[in-house]
Amino acid sequence: MRPSCPPYTAAATGQRPASSGLYPVSEGTGPGRSEFLIMGGTILENLKPILQIQHLTHTYSAGTPFQRSAVEDLSFDVYDGEFLGIIGHTGSGKSTLIQHLNGLLKPTSGQVLLEGRDIWAEPKKIRDVRFRVGLVFQYPEHQLFEETVYKDIAFGPGNQGRTGDDLDRCVREAARLAGVRDDQLEKSPFELSGGQKRRVALAGVLAMEPEVLVLDEPTAGLDPAGRENLMANIQDYHRLHGGTIVLVSHSMDEIARNADRILVLKRAHILMEGTPAQVFARSEELMSAGLDVPQITRVALALRDRGLPIDPAVYTVEALERQLLALRKGGTPC
Ligand SMILES: Nc1ncnc2c1ncn2[C@@H]1O[C@H](COP(=O)(O)OP(=O)(O)OP(=O)(O)O)[C@@H](O)[C@H]1O
Ligand SMILES: [Mg+2]
Repeated sequence: MRPSCPPYTAAATGQRPASSGLYPVSEGTGPGRSEFLIMGGTILENLKPILQIQHLTHTYSAGTPFQRSAVEDLSFDVYDGEFLGIIGHTGSGKSTLIQHLNGLLKPTSGQVLLEGRDIWAEPKKIRDVRFRVGLVFQYPEHQLFEETVYKDIAFGPGNQGRTGDDLDRCVREAARLAGVRDDQLEKSPFELSGGQKRRVALAGVLAMEPEVLVLDEPTAGLDPAGRENLMANIQDYHRLHGGTIVLVSHSMDEIARNADRILVLKRAHILMEGTPAQVFARSEELMSAGLDVPQITRVALALRDRGLPIDPAVYTVEALERQLLALRKGGTPC
């Protein structure tokens, strides 16, 4: 039976993430399990995983006294078209995990499937996987090496075989989407500020038109305006291209504002996985694990602790406002 009144729907929670609004809901277990997309409270068709991570373990320095599993027996799906946020403490394994998604790291055990196929089934074709799953590193400024911004952005699509006007169009389009200005294209990337270098690195990956865009803390170190601006560019790209985005972030607010679904890592394992409403319904557990919750969720928790019948699983100003207005009118808050 399909969920008739799922607690996951935008209509039920009164919340809708800023992004595409895809909500996966599972039904049943085992091989017969089906998934649905819920958009704005309407059940859509079957949800398709684009990446499947199955029992993934990665052990650094195996066989030495420094042996350590940075991710251990992780299993989850990334759905086609969704915006998945990954959060966790420093050292919880986020960067290690996402470097497996495009084959930069090879699993010690377990598998990564791209559209149902093990990405390491034919190791010689791993380059094709890297074109389809684009990764922007945690310190993307380290990725830049060409003489000019233009050449840096053109490097990936050039390797994909694009040339002439087609290459030029794709470089300029990627630069525009990443917020790199035309007058910066002929500059050396090393003349640019930290924030601008990040945009160039992002443009270089966007130019390859990956089906899955994986971003490792793209806004770390930027000022609040720079962070908001870059996230807006990423959201624009998601809206325009409809691809899949995996975003690693330290900021719970950033994740709450942008992600359709959240994966929380703790010491190499998955602590939680679900929609923002599902995850923030467990805010006290998140806080006792030493993780942050969105500012609005904190306010809701504080109001509830003062006796107001507030659902603390809210994470947007609008949703909290709706609850407070409903209370004022004497109705139920959610
Ligand atoms: N190349 C490496 N060799 C050995 N150990 C490593 C290596 N890279 C990461 N580690 C260890 O693996 C664990 C997970 O690291 P990882 O960088 O994946 O975490 P993270 O969640 O991305 O952290 P951060 O939030 O600081 O970026 C850490 O204990 C780290 O010290
Ligand atoms: Mg990291």
